Amino acid sequence: MIKLNSIYPSLLSGIFHANNIHGEESEKNFLQSLQPYVIQLRTKYQSSSVSIDYSDLKMQAAYLIAYYPGYIYQSHNTLNCHNVQDCLDIASDSITISMFGCGPCPELVAIASFLSEHFPHIKKITANVFDIAVDTWKYSIGIAKEYLLPKIWDGEVIINYHPSFDLRNPCELSKIQCLAESKIVTFQNCINEIATKEIKTQDIFAKNVESIVNLLSVNSIMLLSDLSGYESVDKTLSKLEINLNQIKYKVTTNDRSEGYRFYDGSIPPKVLEYLLTGEDNLIEKRTIKYISLGILVNVNINIHIKPDNECKRLDLNPARERIATTAQRRVAPPIKKSIQNTTSTPNLSPVTSTQKPKLLPSPFQPF
Ligand SMILES: C[S@@+](CC[C@H](N)C(=O)[O-])C[C@H]1O[C@@H](n2cnc3c(N)ncnc32)[C@H](O)[C@@H]1O
Repeated sequence: MIKLNSIYPSLLSGIFHANNIHGEESEKNFLQSLQPYVIQLRTKYQSSSVSIDYSDLKMQAAYLIAYYPGYIYQSHNTLNCHNVQDCLDIASDSITISMFGCGPCPELVAIASFLSEHFPHIKKITANVFDIAVDTWKYSIGIAKEYLLPKIWDGEVIINYHPSFDLRNPCELSKIQCLAESKIVTFQNCINEIATKEIKTQDIFAKNVESIVNLLSVNSIMLLSDLSGYESVDKTLSKLEINLNQIKYKVTTNDRSEGYRFYDGSIPPKVLEYLLTGEDNLIEKRTIKYISLGILVNVNINIHIKPDNECKRLDLNPARERIATTAQRRVAPPIKKSIQNTTSTPNLSPVTSTQKPKLLPSPFQPF
């Protein structure tokens, strides 16, 4: 598991080096100069429809310091929570992954760390990066690649950039060959920027996601993970959970009632003194709450459901419960029936008679 202790020093040296900052006084001035950017980010993320221009490199530096370590943890926890180590069946020494709306790619850092823990024979990651602002983010991805990845990954990393990829428009996905090769596909903290309050944007985004899942091969997994508290994210993920509850997919969700604690007490003192000073909108983030959905393609293994509450059905809020109840009536059979009869119910996860799952999740029923 990555430690914040090792993330921050590498991240800071990368940022200082990229900005030609040398010496304590320059570092102090630089960190202080990022305060308005952190305030701007915090303010914009509080809006229900998030729209941010990340092209200013100071905005990216602010994002990297204020959010990036926590988002690496979010990705890492999502991989664990959805038991990706049990789903992947990788004999080769290389893996292809695709990350959508990934900005500076905390997902890549987490995946590299996860692979080195669970699949030490993998020595090469080919990472496909899809983002509306890919060119803008190359600066931060470069910092991650040069300063962070070498600390946790001793293999090769190849990054393929797919520029100006707009998930708010219907995308021509069938021609993107790398998707069929991708074993892990991620969407993290971008749904709140793509699927806004307008139902149309949610529907287009959901359709794009569904098209991508359809292109994935057996034993690949898509992980969607986004911050709690955005109605549009809730609605979009609920839609996807319903639409993807098909025989060829196994859909799992995390427990949204728990905040995930990522802070391990090691934010460098200079960051706390000059940037995340504790004043309004400059408070360091100690916890991160998010919802995640895992979609495993064509399950032919037993998934172990974690005994703790790290990964279980969503703890529904009232708004979601309404959606869930309607959805449940429409598509989900009672859980007992689904355990007893897996062949006559087309919308169930595929469990053969020889498999004896501890629990068989179906939409909106608690694990
Ligand atoms: C908050 S950042 C999240 C970045 C990264 N996934 C993370 O967890 O740190 C949101 C990302 O969504 C991207 N984005 C916003 N609108 C988009 C769209 N319509 N299509 C594709 N990406 C989009 C932004 O460029 C940005 O990189």
